Amino acid sequence: MSGSNRIPGPFVKDDCHGSPAVRQFGRWTLHEYPETDSTNLRAAALPGWHAVRSDRQTAGRGRFQRSWVSDEGGLWLSMVLPVTGAAARLLPLAAGLAVCDAVQACGLRDIRLRWPNDVLVSERKLAGLLIDQFVPGLAVAGVGLNVNNSPEEHDVALRGRTARLADLIEPVPTLTELTHLVLRSVERIAEQLVASGAALLLPRINALWRAPYKVQLDLDGRLVDGQFEGVDAAGHLQLRAGASGALHHFEPHQVRLLREIQDP
Ligand code: BTN
Repeated sequence: MSGSNRIPGPFVKDDCHGSPAVRQFGRWTLHEYPETDSTNLRAAALPGWHAVRSDRQTAGRGRFQRSWVSDEGGLWLSMVLPVTGAAARLLPLAAGLAVCDAVQACGLRDIRLRWPNDVLVSERKLAGLLIDQFVPGLAVAGVGLNVNNSPEEHDVALRGRTARLADLIEPVPTLTELTHLVLRSVERIAEQLVASGAALLLPRINALWRAPYKVQLDLDGRLVDGQFEGVDAAGHLQLRAGASGALHHFEPHQVRLLREIQDP
C-alpha cells in the first residue's frame, strides 16, 4: 500500500506489556493497556478489525521515525484494517477523513487536513496518523489525538504548535467516547471505500485540504514549487507546476514534506 511504513516481520516481542483488557465494540475487538511502547506495534500481530488503545505510550512513533509524545490524557489508538484492491491506496487519506468526522461529531467544526493526514485547528496540530503495513493485506492505522494531555510540557519543540480538545470544546468527551467515535467512523469510511471506491470519499477528503494553495514539495531532497490541488482517486498528490501549468502527480511516499507557502 502506498503512503505507509513497510516494516518487515516477524516484528513483535510481546513482553512487559501485561495482558490487555479486551472488549467488543461493534465489529471491533478492542485491546486496552494502561501502558505500552506503541499501540501500532501492539497491533502489528493482530488480525483485521482488532484495535489497541493505551493510556500512555513509552515509545510512541510518529512519521519519519520521529517520536510521538504520548502522555496520559490523549487518545492513542491503532486499528488493524484489511486492505485490498485499488481502493486501499486511498486508505491513509481516508483514515484522516475518518478522524476528522469523529472530531466534528464532538462539535469541533473548524478543522482541516494538512498533507498527508495531520488534523489541524488554526494551524496547530490536533491529531496525527501513522499508517504501518507489517504484513500484506493488513494496515495498522495509528491515531494520536490530543485531548487532556499536555504535549508541549513534555517537548519544548512543540510549544505553540499543538492543539487539544480540552481547550476547544466543552464538555470534553471521555477517552472511551472518543475511542468509540473513531472506531465507528473508521469502520464506516473503510466500508465506503470497499463498496464505492474513491467516488464518495474523494470530494470530502479534497474539501478538507482547503486547497488550492502554493506549496513547496520536498521529494526526498528535491524541492518543487507549485500549487497543491488535492489528490486524485488513486491517492496521488496533484501539483500544478512549471511554466506550462501542467498537473503533476506524486505517490504519497515520494513526498517527504509539503510546505505551505503563505502569500505575503
Ligand atoms: C505523526 O503525525 O507523525 C503521526 C503520529 C501518530 C501517533 C499515533 S499514537 C497511536 C499510534 N501509536 C504510535 O506509536 N503512533 C501512532
